Amino acid sequence: MKTNVAILASGSGSNAENIIHYFEKSNLVEISLVISNKENAYVLERARRFNIPSAVVPKSGWETGVAVMTLLQQHQTTIDFIVLAGFLLRVPDTLLRAYPNKIINIHPALLPKFGGKGMYGDNVHKAVVAAGEKESGITIHYVNEHYDEGQIIFQAKCEVSPEDSPEDVAKKVHALEYKHFPEIIEKTITKSCLNLMKQNPKDSDRYSKSNNL
Ligand code: GRF
Repeated sequence: MKTNVAILASGSGSNAENIIHYFEKSNLVEISLVISNKENAYVLERARRFNIPSAVVPKSGWETGVAVMTLLQQHQTTIDFIVLAGFLLRVPDTLLRAYPNKIINIHPALLPKFGGKGMYGDNVHKAVVAAGEKESGITIHYVNEHYDEGQIIFQAKCEVSPEDSPEDVAKKVHALEYKHFPEIIEKTITKSCLNLMKQNPKDSDRYSKSNNL
């Protein structure tokens, strides 16, 4: 039994595509669903190209979380783990409660710096350059009820030189995202499966066999 993952994304979805590609032949992870809050988000086209089911839940559906929970429950496969890859809305509390330590996000800077509401996409890289930072990078973290404040799982750095424009920084940060995000997802899911095995020894055989642990 593989771990079924849903990717949440609001925009282009280049990270989503990289993740989908990485896990195409995985025995551990199945990317089972892509959800966007925007019906014209390019990530939906990328999902179609890879034959991954996708859905749109408009902004109003994220406020109470009912619409997204219904979608996850009605989906043909139960979703076990959620990855935010450029998802711009707050994750509703119902979802956080249903997926404790099973929702992770990538932020394009070294948190706790340059995080919080409004700090997304190019805004982050512009702020990094304006502050004269000598380095930036990526932070992969668990999601909690506050923007960009969940426990940090992994960070990687890149240099920022005085000549760098926000676009230059974005390129360096994207390269780090593509390199590390899929691997960290894999490690985090493996850890989560191992914890589950400890908590439910009866299920351990099922998990270890199916996940090659
Ligand atoms: C990435 O930089 C990610 O860190 C941030 O949003 C951006 C999404 O880019 N959370 P893409 O849609 O994956 O190209």
